[in-house]
Amino acid sequence: MTETTLSIIKPDATKRNLTGRIIAHFEEHGLQVAAMKMTQLSRREAEGFYAEHKARPFFGELVDFMCSGPVVLMALKGEGAVMKNRELMGATNPAEAAEGTIRKLYARSIGENSVHGSDSAESARRELSYFFPATDLY
Ligand code: CMP
Repeated sequence: MTETTLSIIKPDATKRNLTGRIIAHFEEHGLQVAAMKMTQLSRREAEGFYAEHKARPFFGELVDFMCSGPVVLMALKGEGAVMKNRELMGATNPAEAAEGTIRKLYARSIGENSVHGSDSAESARRELSYFFPATDLY
């Protein structure tokens, strides 16, 4: 089934000039960019986006980091895109990520882990609508 999911290239990756390599990784593995925007998130935007993690001890650190530089917001489309994106990213903690995954290749730590991806079809719908009007998806 063709799906669309949200991907974010995080500030650690944009600052290290990894944007193109990460997008190429998705494209080479069957996902297509259906919307894309580079922006610096405000605290309010980052807090709203990660609201489900509000009670976690790392919430403040997560919000600080996500606002610390530019991010690239993308809608990625393809067959089984939600799970495929998560496979291509690898585990949240790069120390546990499989060989060849984006986080294994590029992430620096569990916090500075280079990419975010929606974890379910329901999250994808919510997260896409947080950043993109439906009419902006190709
Ligand atoms: P992400 O997929 O963007 O979703 C929530 C983020 O919280 C996650 O990636 C990590 O970057 C971050 N995170 C999870 N656990 C920790 C932790 N223990 N310390 C700092 N950040 C964390």
